[in-house]
Amino acid sequence: MLTGKRILLIISGGIAAYKSLELVRLFKKSGADVRCILTKGGSNFVTPLSVAAISEEQVFTDLFSLKDETEMGHIRLSREADLVLVAPASANILGQMAHGLAEDLASTTLLATNKPVMVCPAMNPMMWEHPATQENLETLKTRSIHIIGPADGDMACGETGTGRMSEPQDIHDSVLRFFDSHKPLSGFSALVTSGPTYEPIDPVRFIGNRSSGKQGHAIASALADQGAVVTLVTGPVALPDPEGVNVIHIETAQEMLDAYKSALPADIAVCAAAVSDWRTEDQVNQKIKKNGAAPKLTLTENPDILKTISNATNRPALVIGFAAETENLIYNATNKLSKKGCDWIVANDVSENIFGSNKNHVYLVTENGHEEWPQMDKRAVASALVDEIINHTNTIKLKEAAE
Ligand code: CTP
Repeated sequence: MLTGKRILLIISGGIAAYKSLELVRLFKKSGADVRCILTKGGSNFVTPLSVAAISEEQVFTDLFSLKDETEMGHIRLSREADLVLVAPASANILGQMAHGLAEDLASTTLLATNKPVMVCPAMNPMMWEHPATQENLETLKTRSIHIIGPADGDMACGETGTGRMSEPQDIHDSVLRFFDSHKPLSGFSALVTSGPTYEPIDPVRFIGNRSSGKQGHAIASALADQGAVVTLVTGPVALPDPEGVNVIHIETAQEMLDAYKSALPADIAVCAAAVSDWRTEDQVNQKIKKNGAAPKLTLTENPDILKTISNATNRPALVIGFAAETENLIYNATNKLSKKGCDWIVANDVSENIFGSNKNHVYLVTENGHEEWPQMDKRAVASALVDEIINHTNTIKLKEAAE
């Protein structure tokens, strides 16, 4: 759930610091990497040794430690994180943050960071309600600092009121929601085709192809992992539906086109399906019997889904096709780019036993030329393609912001 996420946890002084150990454990269990800074106040409640043991990382405590600064440095510490979380956040550290003080490693790191910051206040109810604390919080909110809690209840000091640090599970879930809503493709919708199509000859026979759907399904998963709302239109495959993806199962090219059109509008379209180019002209309702002469099949061309989508009035902003070739790969793929009217083509040489394999060797062809990617697992190709899509959408956002 938090796989690959790097959280910098600052543990400041307060009895709630003992709960931070459980918080580290929950983050680690969800797959995050957690580095901790322990303030002088925090180390009165938990020891660097226990934090290091649970986080399985070096714990940073001192701004002027020669060893820490040469190995990591407070600037790197503040930048090599996806999120900086202060839990517990004492009244003192909230004040330091609001006033831009850099008095120790924690406050200096908070001043130096360019990453999102979340704080989990924990203090006595009178301290929480004090106008100084409330004004500091207002200042932090105007700087887009996220505030989790505090909760109501009995305090360690014997008083009751608002000021308890939120429970570790609640903080963990808030962080999870934060990452979900801040994924690079949050707010984008994507349509993906995958697998083969089956075109019936009679009730038992069909025209099909060797596509396994592995590449298209991996792309749908990778898009969803990055926050896009994904609809996958797939032909018959022996793969489970990817998690978190809206899947429409179809058999024929016409059904794929109908499903695809009904799922429009979308921001991104990826046509990875191996659509059958032809179907039989006549629909035969009974099984064709052997009668000595081989039956004559008259074929007619199927609709071209990629071409239709590329030229639709509600065309997605980015349309990506594939090119399955057995010769003149780049030449044919470049031709397909203009013939179909799409933005990018992922070209692969299908004579290299690509169908059904877990590996793929592709070239990304755009109007600017082509680049060869090394042979990779199909999931790695999917995530590399999604990285390209994210770069592209970021460029569009930057352009829009500049206009
Ligand atoms: N495609 C499609 N609808 C079709 C045929 C192809 O959407 N009826 C899409 C595929 O999903 C792929 C791209 O078009 O993204 C190229 O498919 P490919 O099989 O390589 O080429 P074809 O268009 O079928 O042309 P040819 O068979 O002549 O190479």
